[in-house]
Amino acid sequence: MADGQQWRDCVVTALREQEAALLAEVRDELGPLETAGLAARLQLVRPELAGALAAVFGPQSAALAREVLTTAVRSGIRRPLPLRVRDRQRDVDPSWALSQQAIGYVCYVDLYAGTLLGLLEELDHLQELGVTYLHLMPLLLPRTGEDDGGYAVADYERVDPRLGTMADLEQVADALHARGISLCVDLVLNHTADEHPWARAALTGDPAYADRYLSYPDREQPDAYERRLPEVFPDTSPGSFTWQPEAARWFWTTFNSWQWDLDHAAPSTFAAMLEVMVQLLDRGVDVLRLDAVPFTWKRLGTDCQNQPEAHLLLQAFRALVRLAAPGALFKAEAIVAPDHLVQYLGAHEVQRAECDLAYHNQLMVLLWSTAATRDVGLAVHALRRLRRPPTGTGWVTYLRGHDDIGWAVSDTDARAVGLDPFAHRRFLADFYAGRHLGSYARGADFQRNNATGDVRTSGTTASLCGIEQALDEQDPVLLEDALRRFVLLHAVLYAYGGLPLLFSGDELGQRNDPDWAARRKAGRDNRWMHRPALDRAAAKLRHESGTLEARVFEALQQLGTVRRQLTALRGDGSVEVLDSGDPGVLALLRRHPCDHPVLVLANFSEHPRWVATQVLDGRTLPVLASEPAPVVTPDGALLPGLGWAWLRAEGLER
Ligand code: GLC
Repeated sequence: MADGQQWRDCVVTALREQEAALLAEVRDELGPLETAGLAARLQLVRPELAGALAAVFGPQSAALAREVLTTAVRSGIRRPLPLRVRDRQRDVDPSWALSQQAIGYVCYVDLYAGTLLGLLEELDHLQELGVTYLHLMPLLLPRTGEDDGGYAVADYERVDPRLGTMADLEQVADALHARGISLCVDLVLNHTADEHPWARAALTGDPAYADRYLSYPDREQPDAYERRLPEVFPDTSPGSFTWQPEAARWFWTTFNSWQWDLDHAAPSTFAAMLEVMVQLLDRGVDVLRLDAVPFTWKRLGTDCQNQPEAHLLLQAFRALVRLAAPGALFKAEAIVAPDHLVQYLGAHEVQRAECDLAYHNQLMVLLWSTAATRDVGLAVHALRRLRRPPTGTGWVTYLRGHDDIGWAVSDTDARAVGLDPFAHRRFLADFYAGRHLGSYARGADFQRNNATGDVRTSGTTASLCGIEQALDEQDPVLLEDALRRFVLLHAVLYAYGGLPLLFSGDELGQRNDPDWAARRKAGRDNRWMHRPALDRAAAKLRHESGTLEARVFEALQQLGTVRRQLTALRGDGSVEVLDSGDPGVLALLRRHPCDHPVLVLANFSEHPRWVATQVLDGRTLPVLASEPAPVVTPDGALLPGLGWAWLRAEGLER
């Protein structure tokens, strides 16, 4: 500890000296006012930056601090003017991503529009949906062969030439900004592809890159680590280390054998990643989705996830990015237990600036669990237990992403509501793979782990909701239920509190892609079944009333339109999970100081349910509801099967 303090003092001194030198360097260019502003920002970030760097890099931290501060300040000054103006505009509402106006959409460039320039022609579709945030799936140059959907990056400075160029990416960012849409891209910082020049250099023993990856001469260390390491892809890529004959060493490969984990204990890795971040942000990227962040730090005897250093690294990056691109946000991809998750939003003993957004994986799992059981007990219990995100941060809410669904129902939550945890998780996997009697879902197993019995699920929202089965069986009653279920889930998603993200194709009710296995580079990875190319013929039908596509699309449009008017639905307002008095009905109360509270009721059962709403003090005004509409009286609401309502509670305190 004494050493920690000593290193921290050294870093503070190094930072102060470097700040003075940098301020002198830029004074003429910036003028007195801007220089004073920069000096103030440097002071603001200094304590956090110094603490984080010292704690992670110890004796190497002072030199690293000088280097990365220089990178951040110089790039902040070079940052293109329109982006600097944008940074300032962000100050009006720093939680802009959590505004009730914000709706997100995620797509692969090639599957949505062919290329980046092609995307420029397809923006009306997004605007019709009310999209204000676009996440383009990995678009940097991937390795040749299988590439984990682009999460095996071979060059951080080049766009995959099949999609376009960095200049095209800038053009896309400009076009999006002109339409009020922010751009999010992935930053894969846990690992690179085996083909990345750093990896090639490390293999040949280049001393400048030798420390950038984690590798071992024999099995002693890998075996010791593996005693506690969970397997991410047990089916297709078992184990967490891969033998590289060229180097005669075992390389750490958490994911696939060709995705090599970087050694984040090496200062050069940190400095290089910062460069990558600021370069992307200066192209006009607004949000970096930080991929697989829980895995960045390894510690023997642990599962090597969520280590304190993984957080400190994020805090240090955050502080530096605040200097380089003050308006940018970090979104954590941390699919971990809820208590760990809020820490990525900075909820530690002392709150620290870390990520601004994080995926609400729990809500996703709980909504699917409730849709299967028609019983809200587990969701109510688990959601009530969640810690609220720290002020200014919030959730990204979603029903489906590009990944599988891991049935992350905790043992504690399951037992608390009388469920056997293992049996319930198995039930969910069976139900969504269509194996359970009475299941309406058409998903598929992903990565069955025979050692633990764990099974995950692939499938599109529409296929998991029952739309695929109903269409196959040409059953109008089933189809009606499936469509209502689809809209119900989105009605909760749009109201829960967070930035709702739609996965491309969901807005048209697209089903699983039956030809996924033939897809370029899919290999045996059946997550490709729920990553369909946007069906342009179906997209045309969105305007033809009476079609399934129009019904789905219009429902989402309507949810977006009404949501935009309800400040109570902002992602940084509060959410209270009420007791609806009926096991089939989820009741959420959303509050924000600038609006009347909104009560969200959602009936997950196929049968009508009566919900007493005395809690609302009589004065409720339905603002949006399912078709057929619920009957709302001063005492309560009669919700049809799979019916829902957003009610404005004018009698309640804000
Ligand atoms: C993240 C991505 C997933 C990928 C993994 C490795 O979890 O969402 O698709 O396989 O990281 O990069």
